[in-house]
Amino acid sequence: MLQSSLGRLLKEVLREKLTPSELKALYAGFDVIGNIAVIKIPEPLLPKKSLIAEALLASLKNVRTVLLQTTPVEGEYRLRGLEILAGEPTFETIHREHGCIYKVNLSTAYFTPRLSAERLRVANQVKEGEVIINMFAGVGPYSILISKRVKDVMVYSIDNNPEAYRYMQENIKLNKVEHKVIPIFGDAAEVIESRLQRVANRVIMPLPEKALSYLPTAYSALKDGKGIIHYYEHIFYGKGEDPLRSAVAHVSGKAEFRFDVEYAGIVREVGPRLVQVVLDLRVG
Ligand SMILES: C[S@@+](CC[C@H](N)C(=O)[O-])C[C@H]1O[C@@H](n2cnc3c(N)ncnc32)[C@H](O)[C@@H]1O
Repeated sequence: MLQSSLGRLLKEVLREKLTPSELKALYAGFDVIGNIAVIKIPEPLLPKKSLIAEALLASLKNVRTVLLQTTPVEGEYRLRGLEILAGEPTFETIHREHGCIYKVNLSTAYFTPRLSAERLRVANQVKEGEVIINMFAGVGPYSILISKRVKDVMVYSIDNNPEAYRYMQENIKLNKVEHKVIPIFGDAAEVIESRLQRVANRVIMPLPEKALSYLPTAYSALKDGKGIIHYYEHIFYGKGEDPLRSAVAHVSGKAEFRFDVEYAGIVREVGPRLVQVVLDLRVG
């Protein structure tokens, strides 16, 4: 479901429980992942967190657990603080997206449904016969979606969070793509330097905080120094500034290889004047 319609739904459900100004203060979006709803509640409304959670639980048919997000997504493994507010006391769920299923424990591994359209955009570009490296694979959504949609493909799928890796292994089995997705535990740079040099036609870098510093590694993985790199970055932008131009400038300053920007787009807003951008770099 689109974030805007989820936001509207949230306000609809809570209309009779909160005043108009409280409703306005409530964040416009929340996530439903499998049968878990994750909600952010602004400080002044925290005393009403249980009431809000119970209202959500009663109104949303598929939701069995309501979690409060208590911190931003942070740290090396990109995790968020979570507190159980209502319903079944669990952090684990199974999410369905584009015909794939992803099991995840939201307190120990990263997953967001907000990248759903972006994952599909990337998957739709993959051609038969490609070898792909997903450097920051999490529980495997990009890798599994690609392998489901392309017959002849091999995806090396790396993550350094032991829990994300464990769920990725399980998700590969659940989606029956064992012959196409190879899960690898470890630091993407170490893995690529030791065993995946010059093998890939396409490299995906879905870790906006670190992609720039790992760009030389991504290049070293491309077969004959040619292919596509999907580069992600979070960009703060001031009035009149173009975040896409900033991202291109960062890549130009770092890359010691020739590239054309085949596509540049804003994936999503992640905060005030802060966006996640993607650049599809055609290298070589
Ligand atoms: C933003 S998440 C992306 C997950 C996934 N691609 C998705 O769409 O859900 C980034 C992932 O990179 C992993 N990670 C962080 N540093 C890493 C590194 N140096 N090498 C490999 N994985 C890393 C984190 O554990 C996390 O699961």
